[in-house]
Amino acid sequence: MRKLFLRFIPTVILCCVGQSSVTQAQSDAAKVFKTNCVLCHSADGSGDSATGKALHAKDLRSDEVQKQSDAALTEVITRGKGKMPAFGTKIHPDGVSKLVAYIRELPKKK
Ligand code: HEC
Repeated sequence: MRKLFLRFIPTVILCCVGQSSVTQAQSDAAKVFKTNCVLCHSADGSGDSATGKALHAKDLRSDEVQKQSDAALTEVITRGKGKMPAFGTKIHPDGVSKLVAYIRELPKKK
């Protein structure tokens, strides 16, 4: 009985840790976006901040951006494009892929 109990505990722990890391990943992406991207792209991704308008930052919720593949968006964030700065040296590839997932969620928040 006791042995069974001991085997049960790690499963429960693993399950809870796994779940909290998912929400952690989402809030991480939100934080990274806020720190690095909001200046030009605004919190909602619209790009209607003063800097965003001046630089012609694209609306990240638009079809023009959303129709691009994850690989293409990853490329832009990593290497930059036009006035969009490169973040490859600043943000880890894991972080960049979380940002891409975050950008995919923006149109749903409209
Ligand atoms: C200094 C302002 C600035 C910052 C900071 C910035 N961007 Fe941009 N971003 C731009 C501009 C300007 C464009 C339009 C580039 C172009 O098409 O010439 C753009 C375009 C994009 C695009 C669309 C590219 C395309 O091909 O349509 C994505 C995706 C993007 N940015 C993501 C991000 C993310 C994620 C961050 C934060 C890590 C970020 N940007 C930070 C200015 C910025």
